[in-house]
Amino acid sequence: MSGEIRFDGRVALVTGAGQGLGRAYAILLASRGAAVVVNDLGGGAQGGDGGSSRPADIVVEAIRAAGGKAVANYDSVEEGEKLVKTALDAFGRIDIVVNNAGILRDKSFLRITKEDFDIIQRVHLRGSFLVTQAAFPHMKKNGFGRIIMTASASGMYGSYGQTNYAAAKMGLIGLSNTLALEGVKNNILCNTIAPMAGSRLTKTIWPQHLVDLIKPEYVAPLVALLCSEESDVTGGLFEVGAGWVAQVRWERSKGAVAWSKTVPCSPESVRDNWEKITSFEDADHPTSSRDTFNYVMAAVEGADEVESSSGAAAGDSGEDEGVNVEKALGWRPAASEYEYDSKEAILYALGVGCTVSDKDTSHLKFLYEGHDDFCCLPTFVIIPAQVCSAGLLRSSQLASLTGMITEGIPGFKFDFSKLLHGEQHIEMHRPMPTSGKLRCQSRIRDLIDKGKGAVIVQDVECFGEDDQLVATAQFVTFIVGAGGFGGPRSSAHQKPTADPPKRSPDAVVTEKTSESQAALYRLSGDLNPLHIDPDFAAMGGFSTPILHGLCSMGYAARHVLRQYCDDDVTKFKALKVRFVKPVLPGQTLKTEMWKEGSRVYFRCSVVESGSVVLSGAYVDLAASSSATSRL
Ligand code: NAI
Repeated sequence: MSGEIRFDGRVALVTGAGQGLGRAYAILLASRGAAVVVNDLGGGAQGGDGGSSRPADIVVEAIRAAGGKAVANYDSVEEGEKLVKTALDAFGRIDIVVNNAGILRDKSFLRITKEDFDIIQRVHLRGSFLVTQAAFPHMKKNGFGRIIMTASASGMYGSYGQTNYAAAKMGLIGLSNTLALEGVKNNILCNTIAPMAGSRLTKTIWPQHLVDLIKPEYVAPLVALLCSEESDVTGGLFEVGAGWVAQVRWERSKGAVAWSKTVPCSPESVRDNWEKITSFEDADHPTSSRDTFNYVMAAVEGADEVESSSGAAAGDSGEDEGVNVEKALGWRPAASEYEYDSKEAILYALGVGCTVSDKDTSHLKFLYEGHDDFCCLPTFVIIPAQVCSAGLLRSSQLASLTGMITEGIPGFKFDFSKLLHGEQHIEMHRPMPTSGKLRCQSRIRDLIDKGKGAVIVQDVECFGEDDQLVATAQFVTFIVGAGGFGGPRSSAHQKPTADPPKRSPDAVVTEKTSESQAALYRLSGDLNPLHIDPDFAAMGGFSTPILHGLCSMGYAARHVLRQYCDDDVTKFKALKVRFVKPVLPGQTLKTEMWKEGSRVYFRCSVVESGSVVLSGAYVDLAASSSATSRL
């Protein structure tokens, strides 16, 4: 980057800008073209007293005298909306908020009164929250926002006599970290500084020559840079003083799991691991709570490792053992049970678009438990199978529920957030019972090394209450960036995809999904917020929550079932799809079908975009099937 950093056309609000650091920020931003709201209530350093308009007015005058644009605001930051209103009234917008206003009530812990504690939280933490919350919708609307929170080394490291202040300042770091996550999709960036400068707050503890030397003007350039269009930094924490600028990050020891099958988790087991717990050799630098979840899940997985590998301590499972294909393939996790009745089957059918109308009552057999031919859609089996799949039961449920990640499977640790559901196969050995209990057993069939990525081929067998096989499901998942471990390049067990014939399709069905389709489908078990929470979807780079790939699959399977099986589920033997692109709820799905012998090839695309969403897909009809096309 080169050239002067400017703020022409931008509107900045600096709180507590009547003197000290805030004054320096206001003057620098204005000198670079920003229109500035100079907020200051003009109170004493301890707060809670009467205000004066003088400090803000003097700064406004100085800015105007230098040819800049500024207006004063004399409200307390505790009235956040009023400050933002001043910006909107005077300049029509707000782009930058520097939360700087501050007071001190320093006393040793036992001498701090409730009032001393509360007023510090109100001005620093609550004030920053209220001002920022008032500005945030306007920034969102403009697609631009820069926010600064002011913390302090006192909070980061502790400071004698400042428990109230230190608590508020650390609170601001948490506020900023989370706001950074929430704002980034709208180009609203939030960073925290822990400044050091001579001011009336420091002159009581520093000698005068230091107060004079360490000027606020040395802090202001970092603030200006972070508030500029040029900066894409967010969620940062910076210490800054006298022109020295440094970023601060977390460091965490590798830690230890303080239990194993033979050693319960106890104060003594924690003590016995103390050296490892506190050793910063091989430390990492976590940047999100996902990183923590990784370790916690590794500890949980450690329990399984211990159970299946006699004698090894769970605490050892944290060691990086590389990829062990044999171990992954030999893993036999506990079976999961899925108990359901007609309600679950009906909910699933609604989730994949079954409806009732006066004109067409053919879906009633999937939606009404009192119907003479009441039955489950064959693809309903994916629900119990999915619960049993991927990190199994525990991991997948947690991943779905929290959007967090797990550490993979024994012999193959991976980041769950890098997992893409690539292909799906299901095979029916008999129709799904309309209620009862399924026991689902999973195993890794193959671990394929694709160079850049890895592919997990995983089979789930679903048994009925009579222990007879009801269905098998095969999940093919791609783990981005996890290849290159020297494993096999292909799998003999992976069910192949198949391209349709080159002729025009024999049949085409189009059907519009509902805007609420994902909200409905998720109730069958896949609660991943990606399918319901706009903010979460935005973090994944989607403009809106997306439909579950398995929901689109359910739609397409239903189209084939209707077209070539007359909705007779006994004629539906197997299905294979490759997931290509996501579908947005409300879009129209088009299923093109080609029948060749007992196989119906199909392709599913989105009418509105023309994008293919399911490819390489087919349904195999039961051998005894006398299926004929409805055409
Ligand atoms: P300062 O006392 O020179 O300036 C703070 C300004 O905030 C004052 O003009 C005051 O009238 C104003 N203010 C206080 N309560 C207000 C409220 N409720 N509403 C609106 N304005 C209010 O202090 P300084 O040193 O410039 O501090 C600025 C910020 O930097 C504070 O948040 C402080 O905690 C923080 N800080 C300063 C350090 C330093 O070395 N000066 C060290 C670490 C943090």
